[in-house]
Amino acid sequence: GKTHYHKFVVKSSSYTRLCASKDILTVNGKFPGPTLKAHRGDKIVIKVYNQANTNITLHWHGARQPRNPWSDGPEYITQCPIIPGKMYIYKIDLNREEGTIWWHAHSGWARATVHGAIIVYPNKLGSGYPFPKPFSEIPIILGEWWKKDVMEIPSNANKTGGEPILSDAYTINGQPGFLYPCSKKGTFRMNVLQGKTYLLRIINAVMDENLFFGIARHKMVVVGKDGLYIKPIDTNYIMITPGQSMDVLLQADQPPSLYSMAAAAYSSALGAGFDKTMTTALIDYSINATYSSPKTPYLPNLPPHNRTEASTAFTKQFRSLATKDHPAKVPLDVDTFLFFTISVNLLNCSSDEKCTGPFGKRFAASVNNISFVTPPVDILQAYYHKIPNVFKMEFPRKPPVEFNYTGDNLPENLLTPSFGTRVLVLEYNASVELILQGTNVLASDNHPVHLHGYSFYVVGWGFGNFNPKEDPSMYNLVDPPEETTVGVPKNGWVAIRFKADNPGIWLLHCHIERHTTWGMNMVFLVKDGDGPTSGILPPPHDLPKC
Ligand code: C2O
Ligand code: CU
Repeated sequence: GKTHYHKFVVKSSSYTRLCASKDILTVNGKFPGPTLKAHRGDKIVIKVYNQANTNITLHWHGARQPRNPWSDGPEYITQCPIIPGKMYIYKIDLNREEGTIWWHAHSGWARATVHGAIIVYPNKLGSGYPFPKPFSEIPIILGEWWKKDVMEIPSNANKTGGEPILSDAYTINGQPGFLYPCSKKGTFRMNVLQGKTYLLRIINAVMDENLFFGIARHKMVVVGKDGLYIKPIDTNYIMITPGQSMDVLLQADQPPSLYSMAAAAYSSALGAGFDKTMTTALIDYSINATYSSPKTPYLPNLPPHNRTEASTAFTKQFRSLATKDHPAKVPLDVDTFLFFTISVNLLNCSSDEKCTGPFGKRFAASVNNISFVTPPVDILQAYYHKIPNVFKMEFPRKPPVEFNYTGDNLPENLLTPSFGTRVLVLEYNASVELILQGTNVLASDNHPVHLHGYSFYVVGWGFGNFNPKEDPSMYNLVDPPEETTVGVPKNGWVAIRFKADNPGIWLLHCHIERHTTWGMNMVFLVKDGDGPTSGILPPPHDLPKC
């Protein structure tokens, strides 16, 4: 493979959206940031200069980073942040991923504007795409725009214990689209030739919302997810969670005209007050055809924002390709069983606080009822250099109490989590089954859970409580989808399996930023193996210090 070198300068730049200008954090002045391109088997080396006035780290979402957690990026998990004026070199080794993955800041709320696509083409010596080669490939990055300063959102929310504010618009490739004020002119436009097939590389980079996405009068064929191929799915809409990426074939086979693609929220948790405006972009057939423009470009019909059935009807179709070139290597003999509840919780406020969360309390969130506390030094350096008192072991392998996880009117004592920085130790090459159980402790929601350093097979899922006696008999061990971010259904569970063959410190968290901020995170410590090539690599010399 080839090694690609890039320079990323993180700095603030002025952008105008929704009728006003403001400074946002960018990479190289771009929003969304630059697209990285490579073939499977290549390496990418990125020199990151922090010229902003805030700490920064970058994460390569969907890249497994074999034996190299030093380049993974989450602040205080695998590295100390790059402070203003400093530089750090990240290395990505793309020997497994193929399709669309992405990169984003992993410090504070910086990822709101600091993100971009990573396109991994098939290996040059390999069998190519498992579908006819598309005419052209277009990144479609679903993002957001805030009128306020995004970086202040978590500290403002923390002051009151209430909900972080929602964005003022969703965006496609940085643009809200023609349904929003002052946004018509900038609307992202994709010019197509009639009769050609396009590969859309779609990324949900929004902070807090699952999205429905569709294209007016065009069928879509989903062929990849999270940088891995799937069996093709014909569909009119997709549901994509924060953190997920999907490869979608679009055939420009309609009468020449002006069509739009659009995305809108899917969330059962959103209140009535949220902005239901769709973000839009245009598909324009005018290159080789003349037509008279419709007054308004055709809009897709997306499911309503609270339609869980529509979300499930789409996501239940995922299957891995499971071919000779792209085999499914599902662990069949499990030796390590884990069961995690993921909950939104509440805490009492001290008497001098005026908390604006439900019942005058403050929000928290947890995994197995432990709300994650960010340590002052990153866990990876503490582990590698044996720095004491940074983290504790023995993250619980199952919930501290059993209860009816998805029941109504759950007892109030379940609301309060405990706090800690704990890691769960896995033996090298352990064969792991992990049940992620959503709960109705405060409110239920679809939680997109992301695991760093790995991909995993989603062997089962369902609504209600996981039933260890019956549900495993229904597992798909033949062609389950392989993913890096799985949507745990509202009031439901998923079962995932993976082989712990990547030693290091790896974060698992909900990719809904407010939940992460409230503590819905945990950390795996995967031990080194015995062989000379089964341990983590030594730390790079330029690793930032805390
Ligand atoms: Cu896409 Cu831990 O993140
Ligand atoms: Cu969540």
